[in-house]
Amino acid sequence: RPRPVTVTVTGAAGQIGYAIVFRAAAGDLLGPGMPVRLHLLELPQARRAAEGTALELQDGAFPLLDGVEVFEDADAAFDGASVGLLIGARPRSRGMERAELLEANAGIFSVQGRAVNRGAAEDFRAVVVGNPANTNAYIAASHAPDVPRERFTALTRLDHHRALAQLAAATGARVDEIEGVAVWGNHSASQYPDLTHATVGGRPALEVLAGTGRDLAWVDDTFIPRVARRGAEIIDVRGGSSVASAAHAALCHVHDWVLGTAAGTWTSMAVASDGSYGVPEGLVSSFPVVCRDGRAVVVPDLELDEFSRTRIDRSVRELEEERAAVQQMGLLGPRR
Ligand code: NAI
Repeated sequence: RPRPVTVTVTGAAGQIGYAIVFRAAAGDLLGPGMPVRLHLLELPQARRAAEGTALELQDGAFPLLDGVEVFEDADAAFDGASVGLLIGARPRSRGMERAELLEANAGIFSVQGRAVNRGAAEDFRAVVVGNPANTNAYIAASHAPDVPRERFTALTRLDHHRALAQLAAATGARVDEIEGVAVWGNHSASQYPDLTHATVGGRPALEVLAGTGRDLAWVDDTFIPRVARRGAEIIDVRGGSSVASAAHAALCHVHDWVLGTAAGTWTSMAVASDGSYGVPEGLVSSFPVVCRDGRAVVVPDLELDEFSRTRIDRSVRELEEERAAVQQMGLLGPRR
């Protein structure tokens, strides 16, 4: 039996946390051969609820679950961790300005970044789910200068899945007949779900869509906003935000990052830019990536048409503004 992997889940008593921990214990995070030890980090007021979740995890009698501990202290929660599911965040309350939201979250993610720097395992990697996810990941990385920057990523896999599902619905294809969908930029309304490299059953997606009477205007007016605003649609219809779909996406994100994307396919992840496609180095922006040997590598040399270029630039500009705002407020750590 391999040595168990310590997985720290922040916001573990929240909605997504509750949905994710049982599946992580069942093997959906790191595969059916890898035992896990769960560290649940919560705020003091949610500690009891996290302890209740821990009791239920025990009652699941999961063969792969090697233990569960509840923490209020970030240093203790990240000690020895190899995986961080950074879900807990400060939600936007009524009337809250964007700057206030950034500031409140910078408080959380700087503390967690420092805790990771102090005590996480050598192979630590994190996916930030809590919004604003990309900038929160950037902040955490800035406070963890001894951990490679690329280990702090943010979740855009849910957007990727939404794009896949919408394309499948429009073309009548199954999702596993679709390749080459990409999500670029920020996990926000400015994101760019890109179909220009996608194929359906091996044929260019735009050509297949044209055969159903859907032209580029449909992509621009219907597809992109549908994907980018799907979270609001879920809130409207379900009466609550996306939870199980977000938990599923975060599990897929880490699973593929560690175990690799299937041969010949790519996925979307927000990763620290290496300067590819003109995205300023270090910004945590979504790209199409291939995962191999535990590393996520941006798919190189894709041709970007003018439409894509404009859309990507717009979303990246928003990320730069968020970065500038937290920088101005003095909320970034020692990494430069
Ligand atoms: P929730 O409000 O149900 O749970 C959040 C939990 O985090 C709460 O239990 C709270 O006590 C905890 N928390 C807050 N600050 C903390 C801290 N400093 N340390 C530890 N725990 C802390 O929210 P839900 O529905 O689980 O969503 C979590 C986050 O995920 C939100 O920011 C939401 O916007 C985001 N989200 C991101 C998606 C993505 O695709 N990137 C998709 C869906 C949600």
